[in-house]
Amino acid sequence: MKNMYKIFTVSLIVILFASCSKDTPSNVFFPDMYYPVAYDPYQESVLAYSDEETTIPFFKNHNGQTAMPPVKGTVPRNKYGVLPTELTNTPEDYAKSKMIVESPLQKDSTYVKEEVLARGKKLYEQNCAACHGVNGDGQGSIVQSGAFNGVPNYADRQISVGSVHYVLTYGKNAMGSYAFHLTPDDRWRVAEYVMSFKK
Ligand code: HEC
Repeated sequence: MKNMYKIFTVSLIVILFASCSKDTPSNVFFPDMYYPVAYDPYQESVLAYSDEETTIPFFKNHNGQTAMPPVKGTVPRNKYGVLPTELTNTPEDYAKSKMIVESPLQKDSTYVKEEVLARGKKLYEQNCAACHGVNGDGQGSIVQSGAFNGVPNYADRQISVGSVHYVLTYGKNAMGSYAFHLTPDDRWRVAEYVMSFKK
């Protein structure tokens, strides 16, 4: 009987230590509870618990990768709530931008014209008025000091809300791009404000 106790104690210790091994993960008795049915984004498809799924050709063709590039034509969700412009920096697309007479902000149900123009005015006076003047006549303080010239009066230009947004995005000759200063939605607000000079 004493021997039985010894054997029992020794085997208990052996089992206890065996379960501490780091190299081999312990057996999984209920795989459904450990592994998600859906793939984790960075999970290798061969690690999925079901043999059936590791043979899915789509994953096999991508070296077992489960994370895939987005489908062609996918548009990133951005926090600004406006879609990125489809127009590229070409003379043809500049011409196309002039046909855009409504900003995408206007299509949103939460659009409040006064708020858009108030923010547009603030940003315009901070970023543009030094050259273009607070009234858009092209007579800002830098121009009047004689340090910079060639700034047009908006009244003399054929512009639309789309073309102002375009010029803010890509710049035009002596005027630089504002893509890194103003977010896409703020560029539309400034563009709407600039168009308010035309009325
Ligand atoms: C450093 C001076 C300067 C600043 C600052 C500046 N602009 Fe200009 N802008 C110019 C010049 C110069 C032109 C003329 C470019 C050309 O047509 O060759 C111009 C042209 C324009 C045009 C006419 C483009 C067209 O299609 O004919 C618009 C609209 C405009 N700017 C808007 C803005 C707005 C909005 C801002 C502020 C975010 C701004 N600009 C800031 C110098 C400036």
